[in-house]
Parts: sequence; structure tokens; C-alpha cells
Amino acid sequence: MTRRALARIDSGAVERNCRTLKERVGEKTELCAVVKANGYGHGAAVCAAAALRGGATRLAVAASSEAEELRHHFPDVPILVMGAMTEDELRAAVAAGAEVAIWREGFRELCSRAASDSGRRPKVHVKLDSGMGRLGERDPSTLVDLARAVADDGQLELAGVWTHFATADEENDSFMDEQLAAFLPVADQVKTLGPRVAVHAANSAATLRDPATHLDMVRCGVAIYGLDPFQRDPAAQGLEPALQLHSYVADVKRFGLGDSAGYGRTWRAPEDTWVGVLPIGYGDGVRRDLSNNAEVLVGGRRYPLVGTVSMDNVTIDLGPQTDVEPGAPAVLIGPQGPDRILAEEVASRLGTINYEVTCGISQRVPREVED
Ligand SMILES: Cc1ncc(COP(=O)(O)O)c(C=O)c1O
Repeated sequence: MTRRALARIDSGAVERNCRTLKERVGEKTELCAVVKANGYGHGAAVCAAAALRGGATRLAVAASSEAEELRHHFPDVPILVMGAMTEDELRAAVAAGAEVAIWREGFRELCSRAASDSGRRPKVHVKLDSGMGRLGERDPSTLVDLARAVADDGQLELAGVWTHFATADEENDSFMDEQLAAFLPVADQVKTLGPRVAVHAANSAATLRDPATHLDMVRCGVAIYGLDPFQRDPAAQGLEPALQLHSYVADVKRFGLGDSAGYGRTWRAPEDTWVGVLPIGYGDGVRRDLSNNAEVLVGGRRYPLVGTVSMDNVTIDLGPQTDVEPGAPAVLIGPQGPDRILAEEVASRLGTINYEVTCGISQRVPREVED
């Protein structure tokens, strides 16, 4: 069935991508599937289920609400909330049986109180800021003290020590190695404080780039969706894109030389031509910066997006002669016939990264899941 805007999600691709990643990290390293932000726009629960089928044994999110939602679908799977939380959010995460990240003594105390009030004993991962400059404790010895306080706290279980890389996706960079070198001695000390402390650092880029980062667990997000953390063709890493963005040609109209399309008349026909109107726009996540700066597949051929992207429509130049008729399927991301448009291509036109392209596909767009 044709829809005005539709995201097709290939859950089998997520499963296969996870299998590929799991094979790369080997038996001793757990794969944690990062499914925050509604699975990078792909659908959190569907992608989490596919990831678990593909060998992931854990899930990670940024927000307590995301953990609560996933807990309904996966009663027994470990879910780590990686982000900062308010007290209410922390209580919700603990009540949902999630594992939590801490890096401040005050937050450990809050966590301990939330644990005793809920009658649960949450698993806690202490975080070192080894150079990302975001969440985490900067001082190694303060972090070890915090880990000791967690280990001595009967309400809490010390379950992990972790950090996050700032430049893993930049090849030829040495900062990731510096971060790893700063993290490992701290991780060794924290590991001695509990019987089962998982050491983890790698995101997708680090996982693909350097086995030395694999440690006890890798936290892969973008790669499980078949998106390339290095912004190239995901196939080079053996990854398959899991998301396609579809629309259709709702109307085809004749334009004379100089006729304009869209708000602000930013495009005028350079000759007599046919223009196709697609009922998809920035209200669906097709960014306005793609105005006069994108291509769309129809009938397996690329056509330029012309004029300004509106909230609900875009226009494409079909050329002076066309056999495209109203109703023709259109693809903004994904394959059609012999050609394809990668999220990486759209991202490069926008001067951004593929993560933002798929996360930006709005709630208005139904997700149709294929196995
Ligand atoms: C702390 C943390 N770990 C892991 C990831 C997964 O990163 P990626 O999607 O690059 O694999 C993220 C995502 O931004 C993150 O914030």
C-alpha cells in the first residue's frame, strides 16, 4: 500500500548487523545494543528484539522513560540507563529494574535511597570522564573512592566501570588511545572492588576500529542499524542499512520556463519541464536544508529535489519528457531499481551525520517492520 510517508524497517538487517558485530568482538565480549532515541528513529522495541536475536545480551538507553518502555517488552534483559537523571527519573529507572550510571557521591546517595524505598538493589556502573568532557568523574582516584562507596553500600551492586570515546569515528586520531590508556588502570582498580564488574568503553566506531577497546562489553548503537560510524558506505564494514524512507508522486504537473515551485520561489524551471509533488516534508523529518539540495528515486532513477522543502510536501524536477505518473513510488532513503540513496549521502548534503538523519524522522511517519 502506498502511504504519503513511510519508514520501512528491516529487523532482519538489525539482527544480521548484530551477528556481524558479535562475531567481531568474539565470545568473551558482550554486545550491548544501544536503542535510545526510539532506536535511532528505527523503533526501540522492534530493534531491541532483533538485536537480542542477533546476539546482543544487553540494552542501553539514555533516559529512564526509555528503560520503562523497554521493560514492558523485555522483563529479564539487563537495561542500562546511560544518561543523567533527576531524582524522579532515577526512582523510575530503579523501579523498572534498570541498571544506572553514576559519577557523583551525591547521586550514589540518592540512588541508595531510591533503592531502599523500592526494595530493589540496582546494579550501578561508575563512569570515568577520560576525555569526552561530558558526563563522568574526571579524577581517577575520586572515581575509585566512589566505586568503593558503591561496593560498601548494601543497597547497591557495583556492576560496571565505563567511559566514552570522543573521537573513535575519526581515523588517524590518537585521542581514543589516550582515553583508553587513562581508563584502563582505573578500570583495573575498580574491578578488584566487586566480584562481577564489567569494564566497557567502545561505541560502534571503536568496536570496528580497534579490538583493544572491546574489553568485557561493547555498546553499539549506530552500527546495529546498518549505519556507518565513519559516514562511508556501511557495506565496507559488512553492515546493512535497516531503514528506508518512502513516499510517492501525488501529482505531476507541467511547468513552463520560469515557473516556480514552493515557498520563496527558490527554484524556477530553467526550461519547460514536468514537476512531481511528493507529500512528505520537514514535518516528517525531511530537513529544510535539503531544499534544492537532494535527490529522490522514482522508477529507479534519481531526480533533483527542487524548491523549498515544505512541512508536508517536496517537489522534484522530472525533466522535459517523463513517463512518471501520479502514484509512482518514491524513495528518499534506500534502494530502488539499480540505485540507492544512503542516509550517509543525505547526511553529507546536510553537513551532518547519519545518526541525525534517522533520529530526525518524525513520529508522524509510520514504521512498517519487515523481518
Ligand atoms: C555513552 C554512549 N555509549 C554508546 C553509544 C553508542 O554510540 P554509537 O551509536 O556511535 O555506537 C552512545 C551513543 O551516542 C553513547 O552516548
